[in-house]
Amino acid sequence: MKKHGGAPIVDRRHHQRAGHSRTHRRHALHVHHALGAGACARNVDTVSTTRLKQVLNSGVQNLSRMLAFLGTTTVSSSRRSRVQQFCGHLTGSRVSVFASGFLSRDPSQLQRSRHERVNGTLVRAYARQRLALTRLCVTSTPAQTSTVGTLDEHKAPPAEKQRVRIQRLFEEAAHFLQPANSFVVIKGWVRTVRDQKQFAFVQVNDGSNVSGIQVVVDSSVPSFDKVASLATGCSIAVSGYVRKSPGAKQPIEVQATSVELLGPVASNYPLQKKRHSFEFLRTIAHLRPRTNSFAAVARVRSALAAATHAFFQSRGFIYLHSPIITASDCEGAGEMFRVTTLPPGATEEQADFFGQRASLTVSGQLSAEAYACAMGDVYTFGPTFRAENSNTKRHLAEFWMIEPEMAFASRDDAMKNAEEYVKHGVSFLLETRMEDLQFFDQFIEKGLVRKLEQVRDLAFARVSYTEAIEILSKATEKFEFTPEWGSDLQTEHERYLAERHFQRPVFVFNYPACIKAFYMRVNDTEPTTDGRRTVAAFDLLVPGIGELIGGSQREERYDVLCSRMQELGLSKEQYWWYLDLRRYGTVPHAGYGLGFERYVQFCTGMENIRDVIPFPRYPGHCEF
Ligand code: 4AD
Ligand code: MG
Repeated sequence: MKKHGGAPIVDRRHHQRAGHSRTHRRHALHVHHALGAGACARNVDTVSTTRLKQVLNSGVQNLSRMLAFLGTTTVSSSRRSRVQQFCGHLTGSRVSVFASGFLSRDPSQLQRSRHERVNGTLVRAYARQRLALTRLCVTSTPAQTSTVGTLDEHKAPPAEKQRVRIQRLFEEAAHFLQPANSFVVIKGWVRTVRDQKQFAFVQVNDGSNVSGIQVVVDSSVPSFDKVASLATGCSIAVSGYVRKSPGAKQPIEVQATSVELLGPVASNYPLQKKRHSFEFLRTIAHLRPRTNSFAAVARVRSALAAATHAFFQSRGFIYLHSPIITASDCEGAGEMFRVTTLPPGATEEQADFFGQRASLTVSGQLSAEAYACAMGDVYTFGPTFRAENSNTKRHLAEFWMIEPEMAFASRDDAMKNAEEYVKHGVSFLLETRMEDLQFFDQFIEKGLVRKLEQVRDLAFARVSYTEAIEILSKATEKFEFTPEWGSDLQTEHERYLAERHFQRPVFVFNYPACIKAFYMRVNDTEPTTDGRRTVAAFDLLVPGIGELIGGSQREERYDVLCSRMQELGLSKEQYWWYLDLRRYGTVPHAGYGLGFERYVQFCTGMENIRDVIPFPRYPGHCEF
């Protein structure tokens, strides 16, 4: 042993050279520990400057605090030598060493049982085989900061690091586990806090994934005393190191170096740790995205929207922003919300804002047709409104629709495109949002992932309306409404076809003209219908939902369209511009509308459509 800077130093190489036994060396280390302040192991024969730089880069704050992460496995000889290596470089500096880790033989029983802040703790730590070092902190006294500083080439971590989304930590765990990248800042909302005296475990969620991340806070963290009393719902900023988690529940966790309370939470916060009913959560729609279910729905919804644009854009479709305020009733059903600035009771429509009756659109289709008849393939994706008084699990007053419209296309082309689109969205979710899908599979719809895989892999069924009525008529199922040629399929019929009979999504095509909109192309002949008139319409029916898509080939023949409109009592004057499309270079064209919320329902298993749109609008409800 020799003296250095007034502090006793253990030189392991000295012992090795001198042929001392292992026991002897360990004994020497203990002796060294006993010698007190400033002591440090020395190991000059295994210096790796690269490793040292990594360790230093990972966490030196103004050189006054050095923090290194050394993984969570039991201290192995290689790790031990790294520890020694690290300390070897500190030889001569007056440092206090702080180490914490896990003490256990059985990894499943890991307990954070080691927590010491004494000079030379490190020595004791690695002398015990079963202590898995998770954290090593070396602090120089202010007077000797410069001594540590002479180690040079190390950088202080950026004082104001940008926050990292928790999802990214999981996705790029290998990157963040590297010492040079492991220091991160996360910000989010506290879900739970478990306080275990020496440690607190804070589950933080920032909305980017289902699990959130576990933050481990030990008593060296300045705000440790306050962490235990963090309540569910408060917002915090955490700085710390990403490292492998010893727990089975999560692959990684964050060892905090600081925890800052950003926003405390009032004691009457309505979202407590227990499960709440979806009905209750609808009454706090502004807070429900903080629950796992609603955050997962929002992520799936966003991913499906991205997949929608990717699908159509990659096929050369033009994204069209069709108007939200309109004077034409696309579906001809009159279920429109009036848009007016007239005072209540006034009837003079000419005096109204637009000089004519205006409404919120029920569909962007008519505008899409105009653009398709100029640009080939277009699609809309926007909100649509229906003033139908339907209090069902599949109807909203405001919902989003995707409406592709294709020129030079037939009913079958549109069905093919629809099948590819639905499959594309489902595949995209299976590729990118598996954590969410598994959550839904576990808690909302058992077998959801399997169902979606089948949707992706199996061809959709196709059946004519007439055949569908035959199938329904022969079914042993007791329907509330008797299936009859000429009447629309009820949800119970649609679901029977998709869930029981075909057990997969099914297109039903060629509906009776009498139950469909004026713009659908009248079929010239259809042998199976006994001369009964049908149109080239199609609906896509899916298990659990019923109708997901409604579409058709459009009536491109001016005369036929005029007579259909007359039949249905629609004014040619009002639709003059729509009729123009048939007078100037008309082409066969087709399209469809997919109800986006029903698509989200189908992909998540959420039972009520009110729970797949952020702030649902339905009869009697327009809050938030
Ligand atoms: O079948 P629909 O009424 O078709 C149209 O509006 C056509 N103009 C579409 C087109 O061909 N461009 O509506 C299309 C889809 C339905 O299949 C359903 O998924 C959804 O929109 N939908 C609703 N979703 C939620 N709430 C409502 N009230 C809905 N009404 C229709
Ligand atoms: Mg429909």
